[in-house]
Amino acid sequence: MKILITGGAGFIGSHVVRLFVTKYPDYQILNLDALTYAGNLENLRDIEAAPNYRFVKGDITDPAFVDALFAEEKPDAVIHLAAESHVDRSITDPLAFVRTNVLGTVHLLDAARRLWQPAGYDGHTFYHVSTDEVYGSLDFGPDLFTEATPYDPRSPYSASKASSDHFVRAWHHTYGLPVKLSNCSNNYGPNHFPEKLIPLAIHRLRTGQPVPVYGRGENVRDWLFVKDHATAIDAVFHRGRLGDTYNIGGVNEWQNLKLIELLCDEVDEQTGQPAGTSRQLITFVQDRAGHDLRYAIDSAKIMSELGWKPSVTFEQGLRQTVAWYLENQAWLDSVTSGAYQTYYQGQYGRGASPAPAR
Ligand code: NAD
Ligand code: TYD
Repeated sequence: MKILITGGAGFIGSHVVRLFVTKYPDYQILNLDALTYAGNLENLRDIEAAPNYRFVKGDITDPAFVDALFAEEKPDAVIHLAAESHVDRSITDPLAFVRTNVLGTVHLLDAARRLWQPAGYDGHTFYHVSTDEVYGSLDFGPDLFTEATPYDPRSPYSASKASSDHFVRAWHHTYGLPVKLSNCSNNYGPNHFPEKLIPLAIHRLRTGQPVPVYGRGENVRDWLFVKDHATAIDAVFHRGRLGDTYNIGGVNEWQNLKLIELLCDEVDEQTGQPAGTSRQLITFVQDRAGHDLRYAIDSAKIMSELGWKPSVTFEQGLRQTVAWYLENQAWLDSVTSGAYQTYYQGQYGRGASPAPAR
């Protein structure tokens, strides 16, 4: 089986590529990635010479390129992760999200349909990796997102992912394309670009810079270790039902401020700094526009139907993650060089605001 994995040089994609290349030596894994700011082939150095792995540089927003690739490579299956993935960037450049997440997904869907439909869809799968943010925002309380929760996206990022999910289902219902979807909560772990909260905080603590907490730091996210997301994708790809969606989450809700305090303490411990040193860098800044209050996932379906569960506790995952960033400072330095500085301090720099009442 030849599997086209899109976005394989990114954070989650690189863990999925590594899992499939090493676990399934009989599969051919073709990694298609445009290598945007978020794509980094360093993430895959350890497996790049594997005989069942190949990388192709290309842009899913270019239909001629996508068509030529499908005609030449004839993939049996697609696992689609390529996307613009950061909410803050989507607020300042929403069109990039429409182009890649919506149009790019439609180009892939239609290329797969045109390649597979003539001889029948048997043995083929188009798997779209999506986010829980399509469901909108929860209040504080016991509610969880289930697979039946109505879509209610609020940010340009989540609207673009919701739209792409709808197109995936439309290709299933209209053309019979054999699709699967999963909607996952916030991931963390090695190789995460330091614009997202956890790697950003570790990077800034490591370099003695303030760690920005949006608003009052009360927003809640449900964190899952990236390698556990990769094993969930493996389970859905191989055993999930066609046409179905599976929610994936860590049963691991944290308020941002509590999470950052935990991270500070972990960094102090692993660097041998006196306890409390890192917490002094916590800085409250202007809130994100339209900041979703709470995400929390009900993973009962994937756990009961596919037997998947996370392999690490949050404490273990976070410890491994902090250790990885401290041991891989060269990776962080390379991805936080020139372009990142301009991006972070220019367009997205946030002024400090008074500390909220605690
Ligand atoms: P990422 O930003 O780290 O990586 C995205 C990858 O896609 C990069 O390698 C980039 O070069 C590539 N890419 C972007 N535009 C492209 C284009 N036009 N053509 C080809 N390649 C392109 O993202 P991630 O965090 O690894 O997320 C991967 C997928 O998982 C996304 O679809 C995202 O919506 C979804 N997801 C992410 C999370 C999370 O917490 N990060 C949670 C749930 C779902
Ligand atoms: P992020 O990692 O950007 O993921 P998402 O917005 O997709 O959930 O942000 C996680 C949470 O952390 C979110 O509530 C916004 C908040 N946040 C901060 O408080 N400070 C930061 O510097 C960043 C990047 C995020």
